[in-house]
Amino acid sequence: MKEIKNNVYYCGITDSGRKYFDELIPLEHGTGYNSYFIKGSRKNALIDTTYTPKTEKFIENLGGVRIDYIIANHGEQDHTGAIPALLEKYPSALVLTNPKCKANIMEMLSVPEDRIRIVADGEEVLLGDKTLKFIYAPGVHWPDTMFTYLQEDNLLFTCDFLGAHQAFNAKLDLESAKRYYAEIMMPFAPMCRKYIKLVREIAPSVILPSHGPMYTNPEIILNAYEDWTAAEGKNLVLMPYISMYGSTKEMVDYTAEKLEKNGVKTLIYDVLNGDLGEFAVGLVDATTIILASPMVLAGPHPIIIGPAYLLSVLRPKMKFLSFIGSYGWGGDLFTRLGAFLSNLHYCEPCEPVLAKGKPKPQDFAKLDDLVNAISEKHRELGLV
Ligand code: FEO
Repeated sequence: MKEIKNNVYYCGITDSGRKYFDELIPLEHGTGYNSYFIKGSRKNALIDTTYTPKTEKFIENLGGVRIDYIIANHGEQDHTGAIPALLEKYPSALVLTNPKCKANIMEMLSVPEDRIRIVADGEEVLLGDKTLKFIYAPGVHWPDTMFTYLQEDNLLFTCDFLGAHQAFNAKLDLESAKRYYAEIMMPFAPMCRKYIKLVREIAPSVILPSHGPMYTNPEIILNAYEDWTAAEGKNLVLMPYISMYGSTKEMVDYTAEKLEKNGVKTLIYDVLNGDLGEFAVGLVDATTIILASPMVLAGPHPIIIGPAYLLSVLRPKMKFLSFIGSYGWGGDLFTRLGAFLSNLHYCEPCEPVLAKGKPKPQDFAKLDDLVNAISEKHRELGLV
């Protein structure tokens, strides 16, 4: 264990070999499951635990310390996975958590009810010379999330909120924190804004999340979150594409070049060979998305469906949506693709462009119209 401050220790696990989070987003630096041990003058507490497969190593790291309370700030198993084994090892230890997390860990991990004590929002629990205060924070990102505040040391444990996919002892890489935000927190941007404000009111000297390095200068991550969660996007058109014979790619390249000439920035994302994390990060900033696909068996190419569905569930701040693509013999490309985007009803559609085979002058003229419409919308928003 590594002491952070006045009998507060880091005792988490680094998972540098992990390649994907949620088996979805590639991890550039692996990740970590942070846990913290607080030694009070009368009682000791553990804040969050670790991912189930890491339990043995985690318990070994704890050494022979006594544990009276296990604080479960959130029920997901990368933080609660070791609770059943810990309760066996420490027969008098109690889990302290909120009612929603209690239900989750009972159902997901079979934690016995008599080993869980509910703490109320704002309740304080004394460890002797240290006081833990619990702050419910539902929605960043599960309904069961709460923060724990160690009053005497002014430390705030925010669980997943403000995390990054890095080791605890790594130098903060804001791009990793942004990638983490994109997948985990972006659908909850309004709640993130609410809790950024709350964290600023608490004004902790250090923020200790459950993934990634601690923030000894909380302003860095709070300012970044204010940018990422802002209601307005940036001057960016994100263009995820797949192409079979090159026609769709030709349309994508033409559209991007024309947009750039109009002063609109573009990011072309190769759905087949790209890193889904880059796509998710692009969604944090993009004001417009143009999905581009050829037709396969009378509908969109299957490879575009995954990113389209992800786009729909991440609910980014984008304001405009369009499609471009090409076909061979017929079908319904855009209606079928649009069916995966029903969550994005808040977006304004822009006239899509469909070419038969290679794009021809009339198709380029339609792309010009699309480019001009998007450029005008970005200008109206003051982005260009
Ligand atoms: Fe890091 Fe929601 O678990």
